[in-house]
Amino acid sequence: MSVVIKNREEMGKMRLAGRLAAEVLDYIAPYVKPGVTTGKLNDLCHTYMVGVQGTIPAPLNYAPPGYKPFPKSICTSVNHQVCHGIPGDRVLKGGDALNIDVTVIKDGFHGDSSRMYPVGEPGIQARRLAEVTYECMWRGIVLVRPGAQLGDIGAAIQAHAEQHGFSIVREFCGHGIGRKFHEEPQVLHYGKAGTGLRLEPGMTFTIEPMINAGKPGIRELADGWTIVTKDHSLSAQWEHTVLVTESAYEVLTVSAGSPPPPPGIAS
Ligand code: MF3
Ligand code: CO
Ligand code: CO
Repeated sequence: MSVVIKNREEMGKMRLAGRLAAEVLDYIAPYVKPGVTTGKLNDLCHTYMVGVQGTIPAPLNYAPPGYKPFPKSICTSVNHQVCHGIPGDRVLKGGDALNIDVTVIKDGFHGDSSRMYPVGEPGIQARRLAEVTYECMWRGIVLVRPGAQLGDIGAAIQAHAEQHGFSIVREFCGHGIGRKFHEEPQVLHYGKAGTGLRLEPGMTFTIEPMINAGKPGIRELADGWTIVTKDHSLSAQWEHTVLVTESAYEVLTVSAGSPPPPPGIAS
């Protein structure tokens, strides 16, 4: 098994899938308000993906080895939930920090992206954590170019998070993506510069740091999917799907509503 290099035509399909994933994140933003349930957000996204976009929600019934099928179409992770939260009856309240993670399949290719959504007025720590996590993702993205190594990306993300007193979740990482939801390589959000796989044009993968306000430890809930921080500290995540181009990178999960890169970071 090795890293799949996408050709021109496949890059075009990845670009479309990426934009569509981002557009689901745009679409759902106005519905994220105190009083809404995560299940309602799921149903709205599902209907939009299937009915408006003609995309397939990749999470629905996704069942990697050792997991039971994921029962919903998006992941919703609130406050100390790190990732893979299952939408349901939970009612969002003012001050919650929500991550919505969307993966669509269009014409056989996957686009995968997540954003943080403050519910009402976020607390100061939640706001700062989401902001630093966004910066971490971008500090990784801007290093993407042919010849760079995966360890360069991990090291930059880790250094920025730890500078702010936050910690990196180790058990989950970014991933190659294409015809498969999760393929090689694994893109760690920590590590050592000058180590790891060398990037080549045509590679597509996600960068999706999960960062905790407290200790890095996590545990899985009895539902078999939801990951939470062991110490109940807040956790945040952002995710983009990127393409290695001939000269640098292209972010594939962009849409009209994508937040801009942090000031002073992108080339
Ligand atoms: N979208 C997640 C990722 O970024 C994976 C979710 S798997 C699911 O890799 F089954 F929980 F949806
Ligand atoms: Co992903
Ligand atoms: Co995702």
